Amino acid sequence: MKELADIKDVLEFYQMLGFEKLPIELKDFRKTDKINIKTVLTSNENTPIKNYHLKEEALIELRKEIGDCKRCKLSKKRLNIVFGEGNPEAKLMFIGEAPGREEDEQGRPFVGEAGMVLTRLIEKMGFKRTDVYIANIVKCRPPMNRDPEPDEIEACKVFVEKQIEIINPRVIMSLGRISTMTLSGINKLKITAIRGKFFYFKDIPVMPTFHPAYLMRNPKDKWLTWNDAQKVLNKLAEK
Ligand code: URA
Repeated sequence: MKELADIKDVLEFYQMLGFEKLPIELKDFRKTDKINIKTVLTSNENTPIKNYHLKEEALIELRKEIGDCKRCKLSKKRLNIVFGEGNPEAKLMFIGEAPGREEDEQGRPFVGEAGMVLTRLIEKMGFKRTDVYIANIVKCRPPMNRDPEPDEIEACKVFVEKQIEIINPRVIMSLGRISTMTLSGINKLKITAIRGKFFYFKDIPVMPTFHPAYLMRNPKDKWLTWNDAQKVLNKLAEK
């Protein structure tokens, strides 16, 4: 209580001097270079900042585990593994199917034309790309942008599952048939039939919606994706 009174005195003093904000720089602890993982792991407090470090480190470890992956035949032609990117503490995660040409060249997800459509959706929802996390079911580009094959999905899906486990988002949006099929475990589904209805992946609500590449070919269906996005925003607003 004494400390609170002291703080109040200090704040009143600054107010008297005409300051509207505290004349101190708040250090952004998330940018600290060195992370003492041991301290983080043994701490009882589960504060968001420590959590951020923990999740960031776990993602780095997972990327190391993937290494120079040769677990499936996609490794032969790929230029880069596209691990995923975004906020390790994201409340919202987007999961696509596999990298395309530009993603393969840059090693980043959704940076090509479909990526522009996704970025616009993210921003229309009120976020920046850096607020959310973006990943794919398969981390390497299938030749000629064909669909990833079942053995490729099987070899890779453990990594997206692990990413979901680490990030533990409040909601996932699965983009297109392959992502929805993999996360729901339902084979041969029609995205037109399933989109817009939540299902659960390990207790996390997943909203299936159209893949951005589909929306490029069928722009008239963009409003359906916007409807799906609004359900996601409502879910995020729930306590
Ligand atoms: N399509 C996807 O599914 N993922 C990407 O990263 C790019 C295009």
